[in-house]
Amino acid sequence: MMKQESKATAVKQNAEIGVEQFDHVELFVGNALQACYYYHRGFGFDIVGYRGLQTGARDAASYVLRQNDIYLVITSALSPDHPVAQHVQKHGDGVKCIGLRVKDARQSYEAALNRGAQGLIEPKIQEDEDGIFISASVAAYGDTIHTFIERDNYRGGFAPGYKAVSELTAGSGLLSVDHIVGNVEVGRMDYWVDFYERVFGFHVIQRFGAKDIVTQYSALLSTVMASQNGKIKLPINEPFSAPRRSQIQEYLDYNSAPGVQHIAFCTEDIVGTVQALRKQGIEFLSVPRSYYDALTDRVGQIDEDIDLLAELGILVDRESEGYLLQIFTKPVEDRPTLFFEVIQRKGANGFGKGNFKALFESIEREQSRRGNL
Ligand code: FE2
Repeated sequence: MMKQESKATAVKQNAEIGVEQFDHVELFVGNALQACYYYHRGFGFDIVGYRGLQTGARDAASYVLRQNDIYLVITSALSPDHPVAQHVQKHGDGVKCIGLRVKDARQSYEAALNRGAQGLIEPKIQEDEDGIFISASVAAYGDTIHTFIERDNYRGGFAPGYKAVSELTAGSGLLSVDHIVGNVEVGRMDYWVDFYERVFGFHVIQRFGAKDIVTQYSALLSTVMASQNGKIKLPINEPFSAPRRSQIQEYLDYNSAPGVQHIAFCTEDIVGTVQALRKQGIEFLSVPRSYYDALTDRVGQIDEDIDLLAELGILVDRESEGYLLQIFTKPVEDRPTLFFEVIQRKGANGFGKGNFKALFESIEREQSRRGNL
C-alpha cells in the first residue's frame, strides 16, 4: 500500500515540475558595466533593465539585456566578499543561472526537491504595483543553478527591483535560445543525464559517442537532453581520453569546475546576423577553405552562396529532414571557457554532427595557440 502511494506521488510530481521554456540566462562577471557594453554593442542586445546603487541595491549591480525572446542578466558584486565576487574569482566571467519559466515556481521547487534536486534559494514572492513575481533556485552541475521563474501574474519589466531602461540597438537578428551546453567531469555525464530525466522529466534526444566527436588529438562524449515540449535543449559533454588534452578538459581546468560551455542563439538569417556581428567586433572560429571545397559533396544543394559562407566561416550540416547552418565564437573571456553559437535551422533538428570534426580541429588550433594542447 505504502509503495503504491509513493508511486502515485512520484507520477504526480512528474507532472508538476512543468518547465515551459528558457526564461533568461544570468552571467556573473567582474565588471557588469563593461560586459554589458560588449553584449549591447557587439551582440546587438537592447539594455532594458538595471538594478544597482542608483536603485537602492547596495550589494550588486545587474543589467538586463534583451534581443527578441532572449534575456541575459549581467551581474557584478560591489564588495569582495559577495558571493558573486567569489564566483568570479573562482570561475572567471561566466554563466551562473539558467532561468526556467514555469507556471508555479513553488510547486516546481517542491517537486524538484522531492525528486532529489538540491534546493539553494527557497521560493521568494516579490510583489510590486506590476503584480506578483515568484522565483526559486536549485543546484545544477558545478556552481551553476536553475532558477524557476513564475511571471504569469507579473506585468512589469524583467523583475521587481529593476528600473526600466531603454538603450536600444538595431539588433543582429538573434531570436531565441536554441540550446545551452554544459561541460562536466570525466565519468559524470551519465549522472547529469539521469538528473535531468529524474528531476525535470527531460528525455535524451541524441547521444554522441567517442567515435562521433574525435579528431587526431582529442575526444568527448555528449548527450542531448530535452524538455517534454522540446523548447529546452541541454546537451551535456564530458571529456574522453585521447592523445592530447580534450577541449572539455581545458574548459574544466580554466573554469575550475563544470559549467556552461556555450549558448546557442537561433536566427532566421545567419548570413545577415554574422555579417552584423563581425562588423560589431565579435570574433569567430576560423574554418579552412578545404571545408567549403568539400561542402556540396557532403550536404548537396543549399540556398546560400558557398563563397559567402566561406568568407563568414559559417558551417553547414544536412540531416534527413533538412539542413542547418551554424557558427561558433571564440571564447568571450580571457579564460578559454564560455563561447556562443549562432544557428539557423532549415528543417534540421540536430546539432551539426557532420561539422564536429571540422569544428573541433578549429578549436584545437586555438587551443594549441594557447599552449594547452
Ligand atoms: Fe551547440
